[in-house]
Amino acid sequence: MDIQAIMDKMTLEDKARIVAGRGFWHTQAIQDVPEIQVSDGPHGLRKINEIPELEKSETITAVCFPAACATSASFDTELMEEMGHVLGKECQAENVGVILGPAVNIKRSPLCGRNFEYISEDPYVAGKLSAALIRGVQAENVGTSIKHFAANNQEFERMYGSSEVDERTLREIYFPAFEIAVKEAQPWTVMCSYNRINGTYSSENSWLLTDVLRKDWGFDGLVMSDWGAVSDRIAGIAAGLDLEMPGSNGVNESMICKAVEDGTLSEEALDAAVKNVLCLVERFIENRQAETFDREADHAEAVRIAKECIVLLKNEENVLPLAKEEQVALIGGFAENPRYQGGGSSHIESYHVVSALSLAERYGHFSYNRGFSDTEDIYEEELQAEAIAAAEKADKIVVFAGLPDIFESEGYDRDHMQLPACQNRLIEQLVKTGKPVIVVLHNGSPVELPWADDVAGIVEAYLGGEGIGEAVMDVLYGRHNPSGKLAESFPLKLSDNPSYLNFPGTAYKVNYAEGIFVGYRYYDTKQMDVRFPFGFGLSYTNYRYSNLKISRDSFTAEEGVTVSVDVTNIGDRAGKETVQLYVSDKTGSTIRPVHELKGFCKLALEPGETKTAKFTLDKRAFAWYDTESADWYAANGSYVIEVGRSSRQIEYTAEVHIIGSKVKPPVITPDVQIGDLLKNPYTREFTLQRLKKYMDRFHQSDSETEEMVEAVVRFMPLRALRSFQYISNEEVEQICEDLKKCIEEKME
Ligand code: BGC
Repeated sequence: MDIQAIMDKMTLEDKARIVAGRGFWHTQAIQDVPEIQVSDGPHGLRKINEIPELEKSETITAVCFPAACATSASFDTELMEEMGHVLGKECQAENVGVILGPAVNIKRSPLCGRNFEYISEDPYVAGKLSAALIRGVQAENVGTSIKHFAANNQEFERMYGSSEVDERTLREIYFPAFEIAVKEAQPWTVMCSYNRINGTYSSENSWLLTDVLRKDWGFDGLVMSDWGAVSDRIAGIAAGLDLEMPGSNGVNESMICKAVEDGTLSEEALDAAVKNVLCLVERFIENRQAETFDREADHAEAVRIAKECIVLLKNEENVLPLAKEEQVALIGGFAENPRYQGGGSSHIESYHVVSALSLAERYGHFSYNRGFSDTEDIYEEELQAEAIAAAEKADKIVVFAGLPDIFESEGYDRDHMQLPACQNRLIEQLVKTGKPVIVVLHNGSPVELPWADDVAGIVEAYLGGEGIGEAVMDVLYGRHNPSGKLAESFPLKLSDNPSYLNFPGTAYKVNYAEGIFVGYRYYDTKQMDVRFPFGFGLSYTNYRYSNLKISRDSFTAEEGVTVSVDVTNIGDRAGKETVQLYVSDKTGSTIRPVHELKGFCKLALEPGETKTAKFTLDKRAFAWYDTESADWYAANGSYVIEVGRSSRQIEYTAEVHIIGSKVKPPVITPDVQIGDLLKNPYTREFTLQRLKKYMDRFHQSDSETEEMVEAVVRFMPLRALRSFQYISNEEVEQICEDLKKCIEEKME
């Protein structure tokens, strides 16, 4: 496609038309430029075929892969990339140019109705896993649309509410997943979010869509709106929103033409949007691949992936795996009808859903009782009595519990974090039988587990896609050794969550008052008990960590450092271990969480085998976002590198030092605090010398040390010397002048 030639031939009306969708799922065909189709995902194809002659549309049958809540637990970038390839090939087979995902919004509250579609409470994990998925899809010459940019962390008032977030928090928590994906995988498109950020709609936020996304990160693809997210289309184009989805039935087209004609919108801004649409179309249509959508083969992939996502949370006295000869009471409607995906735009018309119950015969001796409804929270005495009677005859009890569809979905949030009361009640009664109880969970987001201490086993199956039944049975019976780890913390109760006091906000505003303290950044800093910590997950084998190596103890932020640790499988089964690396800033240069994840590495290990987990830490691994200098800053001083199994199981720590980072001189005014002058290398010496005589006067008694005096004057502004030392205004000003000179000299 000769894009320039096409643009030269386009009328203003053509341009206004091509920057909006044709209906829900297509771009506009104009002149020789064909349309392309987009389709929801991202854990399968929700391709909708329009049948104009019948005035209806139909969703194709497709393979439902595990949702992001589950795939994130794999901590496996290779697996995500492989899943991306499969999805990309399906798109080629179905003539879909862009799959709408991955969705990478941070899990701020366990209540967000869409958490099941999101990856993690940690921006690094969300960034790395989404970049891998994007690489996989796009290697098949199909685009992705990373979404929802940005700060869309709840469903309540999602289309109008304003997320009130300070810039440091945006840069450190809510942006990096997008930033990592843009820098490492160049998604073809980004989807802006519905909400406003600090009062401005994402769809017309030029700071967000142009300054941050394009200028800071170098994004060169297309920005599309979330469906119906456009408020002021003209402001949107000026801000960098290229494509409006779906179209506006021509309403915005005429407004665009009028705005260009009367000069309210520059034609260059419109041209930039047109060009991005044309480039997107070109990228897809000029690289078509002949593929077939082999649903059977892809279903097998969905099963394989689901197994890698299951997290073993509790396994007291090795109650699992189950043995073939044991009599097992399977209880709970989810054994028959697994909850394997969430509701809303990501909902797949699934090809072949496999329930655990349908396969149970192949694994061992079992009975089955529904026990409770899997669609609502009603107590049915008869169902419970039957379940208990069957359980009493069994060796072990496996309860398939979880959240019914109605409890969590796109479009609304949960209003509590509990499982249905009927399920909790039955589990408590089953515990009383004295038989070991194992609970399998089907949920898109953490739930409170009041009986966690009383049951013998807990298996987190999440919403594991259409193959989850087979994956769960393989894990229960030990045909597959689980290796998933939680990409989110499980607090003991909802009120422990840091967003609790401000979620979901009021008067169309939600205040992100907890700032950077999201998830484990909060729980770990506060040293709170949690049900299960971030990064946690068990295995049927055991791993020994040894031989931590750090390439150097002292380095500049630009040099960075490499870290490695050996991990040995000391059990008798093959397994996989996700090694995690956290960095803890001890410099005191600002308020920071006690530690932050900066690396993870999944190792597959045969019994007795040792492999090395390797990490490269660059400046960003140590830095925080300094809004004053509008840059990332890694202060000089000491940091502790922690390597471990979860955020609460650190096996090794090592202290390292950053040197050579540029220190900013203090801003000199009469209000500058004496402590800041004493702390700063540009002014410390001068302050000590010149102010010594004044400081001496602060000595109240002989027992006071110099250190104590320093501590007392720390929070005193220079100008206060006027009041306490009776010096004149002129003298204060003179000290300021001298300080400025001293800084200038040192900077030269
Ligand atoms: C959702 C998007 C989705 C789009 C198209 C919106 O309501 O927020 O995630 O891709 O609809 O279905």
